[in-house]
Amino acid sequence: MVGALRGRDFLAVADLTGADLDALLDLAADLKRGRDPGLPLARRSVAMVFLRPSNRTRVSFEAAIHRLGGHPIALFDREIELGRRESVSDVGRILDRYADGLVARIPSARDLVGLAASMEHPVINAMTDSGHPCQILADCLTVREVRGDLAGARVTFVGDGNNVCNSWIEAAAVAGIELRVVTPAGYEPSERELSRMEELSPGSRRRVLVTNDLDLGLADTEVIYTDVWTSMGQEDQHEDRRQDFGPYQINEGVLGRAPSGVRVMHCLPAHRGEEITDAVIDGPQSVVFDQAENRYWVQLALLAAIFSPDQT
Ligand code: CP
Ligand code: NVA
Repeated sequence: MVGALRGRDFLAVADLTGADLDALLDLAADLKRGRDPGLPLARRSVAMVFLRPSNRTRVSFEAAIHRLGGHPIALFDREIELGRRESVSDVGRILDRYADGLVARIPSARDLVGLAASMEHPVINAMTDSGHPCQILADCLTVREVRGDLAGARVTFVGDGNNVCNSWIEAAAVAGIELRVVTPAGYEPSERELSRMEELSPGSRRRVLVTNDLDLGLADTEVIYTDVWTSMGQEDQHEDRRQDFGPYQINEGVLGRAPSGVRVMHCLPAHRGEEITDAVIDGPQSVVFDQAENRYWVQLALLAAIFSPDQT
């Protein structure tokens, strides 16, 4: 079934069917257990455009591209100046002539779609301000490792209704996850995202509870997931956000209000002392660093699936 991804873009979790996602996670798990992915990228190059900082995404993609025999070419804002030095579509058309694919971290989802439209080769979303699908692939693998199955998993996202939250909402629709989104008032995910989910999978909207009540979101949950209160590009709102999100910090007191076996996840980078305390992120219920490692395995699987040789 991963063959279904050959040659395709991966711009959103919603690009996948439930079967695609399962197959991709099966492949990632096999690769993690030692299966040889071969060298589908031998003598091929993959361009990477990062207009925002990155540790995990860039390093895990570069390592995975190299593992598959390919050559990653990382480009940053100062080289590309997307839409300023050159139009979005000209950048895409040029990269398409030199490289066999593109991994792009670009604030604007519209620019990402514009790049993908201007390229024949596959484009992978390495995060926009509206979504972070590769992160959610790693998160889904981690949830599977924790409980053996994704369907029916009870996951509570606590924090901002941001890019990571949006991709979780899509995953809830694709994989049948029971998602609780707990935010301060005014930081809920957009209704547009929630209605898109219902369009994607009729009936799935009822799988997502959106609330400002932390205890309601924590009741019977299996995973507490959090992310920074201030995302990249929102630095000027930092002080206001610290005030608004304060009661939603994941600390030992909050863990004590959740079921005893609950696991804690965070996409990282963490702003320790804000959305999560040291005691929790470094504590026995945290799977945060396994989750970060899983970025490599799911992206290795994703690249192997997209760039697998055509057998026909
Ligand atoms: N989680 C994540 O995407 O981390 P980076 O911003 O470091 O890539
Ligand atoms: N919401 C965060 C995620 C970082 C991986 C951000 O956009 O900065």
